This record gives sequence, C-alpha cells and structure tokens, in this order.
Amino acid sequence: MLEPVIPIIKSTLNNIDYDMFYSIGAEAIKKGKLAVCTLAGGQGSRLGHKGPKGTFIVPFEKITSRSIFEIAAEKIKNAYKEFGIYTYWYIMTSKENDKETKDFFIDNNYFGIPKEKIIFFMQGEFPLIRENGEEIKDKEGNIVLAANGNGGIFKALEDEGIILHMKENNIDYICTCNVDNILVNPIDAVSFGIIVKNNADLCIKSIEKSNSDEKVGSIVLKDDKITVVEYIDMPKELTAIKNEEGSLIYSESHFGCNYIGLSLLEKISKQKLPIHEAHKKNDEYGEYIKKEMFIFDGFEMAEKPIVIRVLREDEFAPIKNKDGVDSPKTAILLYENKFYR
Ligand code: UTP
Repeated sequence: MLEPVIPIIKSTLNNIDYDMFYSIGAEAIKKGKLAVCTLAGGQGSRLGHKGPKGTFIVPFEKITSRSIFEIAAEKIKNAYKEFGIYTYWYIMTSKENDKETKDFFIDNNYFGIPKEKIIFFMQGEFPLIRENGEEIKDKEGNIVLAANGNGGIFKALEDEGIILHMKENNIDYICTCNVDNILVNPIDAVSFGIIVKNNADLCIKSIEKSNSDEKVGSIVLKDDKITVVEYIDMPKELTAIKNEEGSLIYSESHFGCNYIGLSLLEKISKQKLPIHEAHKKNDEYGEYIKKEMFIFDGFEMAEKPIVIRVLREDEFAPIKNKDGVDSPKTAILLYENKFYR
C-alpha cells in the first residue's frame, strides 16, 4: 500500500531550530563525518557531450564558463572555507569513462583540492542483451558490457574499498549527488544537523512537485518502507489528490541527492537490487536492452529514514538534455539567478 511521506521542510524551520541544526551539522562536518559522493558513471547520452558529463563546459553568461566537475569542486572548496576541512570526495566512474575522468582531474590539478581527498571508484557492468535474452557481441566476439546503473554504487563501494575507507576515516555518511545537478548542495550543515540529531540512516532530499503531472520520481511509503516510485509507475488516481489547503499530498519528488549512513550502505551492498530493463536503439547494435539498477531501490532497507524538503530554486538545476527542458540553458539561468542576480 502506498502512503505519502511527511517531509521536514527546511524553509519553515524557525531561527532557533535552524541555528541549532546548523551547529550540530557544522560540528559533525568539522569532525569529517560527511563525505560527498558524485555519481558520474552515466553515459549522458541525452546531452550528447563527447566524454564524461562532468567534463562538459557550462557556457555561463555572467561568469566564466567552467566544467560541471569544477562547479562541484567549488562546493568542496567553499565548505573548506566554512568548516576548515576538505571533506572526502568520492567519485563513481564507469569502465567507459574512468580514465578520461581521472585525466581531467589531473589536467585541472584537482581544481586545487588536496588530491588525497579525491577518491575515484568504478561501478560494475552488465551485458547488453537482445529481446530474447541473448548477449550482444562485438566484431571480435566479445560480450558487450555497459555500466550497471547508479544502483551499482552499493556493490562498488564495498568491492572498491570505499566502505573500508569510510570506517578507517570515521566517516558516518555519504551524500550521493547526480553529477549533472549544478545547484546540488551536499555539504549543507543545516540538513546534516537534522540527520545527525535524528540519528537517521537515510535522508532523501526532496523538492515539491510543481504539478501532479511532473515527470519525476515520487518519494512515498510503500508498506511502511520509504521508497521512490517512478513517474510511470505512480497510480494516476493518487498523484492528483490534494489536502484541504489545496496542496498535492504525494508532493515529494526525488532529485538525486541522498545522505546514506554507513550501516545502511553496508546492508544494501550485501543485497541484490532489482534489475530494470531499458529498451534502447543505436546504429551500432540496433535494438537492444540495457539492464540497470537504481540507487533508490536500496532505500527500502532503511530503518530510520527522513525526508528533507528544500527549495527547488536553491538546489535543483539539472543538465540532462542538449536543448529545451533541463538543458545547459535552463540550468545556467537557475544557477545565475541564485548566485549572480
Ligand atoms: P541519468 O539517469 O540522468 O543517466 O543518471 P545519464 O547516463 O547521466 O544520462 P542519459 O540518460 O544517458 O542521458 C543520473 C545520475 O546517475 C549517474 C549519472 O552519471 C547521473 O549522475 N549514473 C547513471 C551513474 O553513475 N551510473 C550509471 O550507470 C547510470
């Protein structure tokens, strides 16, 4: 059974609570309890940029153009100014883009961040298959593999030694961020303070749905467990329900910013996540199926989940498509409106 979640709404905290959460969060950040984890293993096929999406140069209008990775690095450096510590920055790559990503960081001198604070790890792969389940082979007869979706993070964290690294460095949480959201705010002391104070093992940041038809994943309770239901799987009769004030009750949408505690990471990394199939087509392989896991499929295992709703204009400016919605143009407008009005 599906039920709505009740979020903590960051913008409605009173000053006393805001300051209290800020100081709890800031103290934990200063102790190194939080690491940032950028999900950068995707193909970025919709954007059509040659190379890892993080290497895409955002053509700003009011400020100097810079790469998506540089924008992310600036957040780590700003947090250093605020908290006096470089948080660890884990970056998930895929076999396809690992070398190019690492070379980009070397060429950019790690954007001035101490290089030992940036740790790359690689996600796994699944074979591409045909409708009948047959694996696709290349001209040399090798099975064609592709990144196994952002849900590949959990096994990769374990296999690539990141969970061990967290334990050795007393890191309690990672904040996973989609590489393509240039307004994402992972080192957010107020939200982190709420997480620490609640001893939450999972915090999903949400933004309020702009309307019932918006094509975003809904954060809901399913049989009392927190989960994200994709737009197409959400029962239409539920999405339109409003409360007495006229607001949608299934209002919380997932935008790819999640704080996950070490214990939950370990738990999920030992489980098999469901496999989703995306039907695709390209010139090289014709029609094929790409198998993928999704990061949010692990969330049902959380014992103490919370949802913090933040303001869309503060934290959400995705670059997904070449033109139109969620394109560099729309993201630039949002980013410059926030910082350089
Ligand atoms: P998207 O679903 O937007 O996929 O990923 P994508 O690969 O970036 O873009 P398209 O669909 O091909 O156009 C959401 C986030 O998950 C990461 C992406 O890098 C992005 O930050 N991701 C996705 C991975 O890290 N690994 C994957 O296998 C897939």
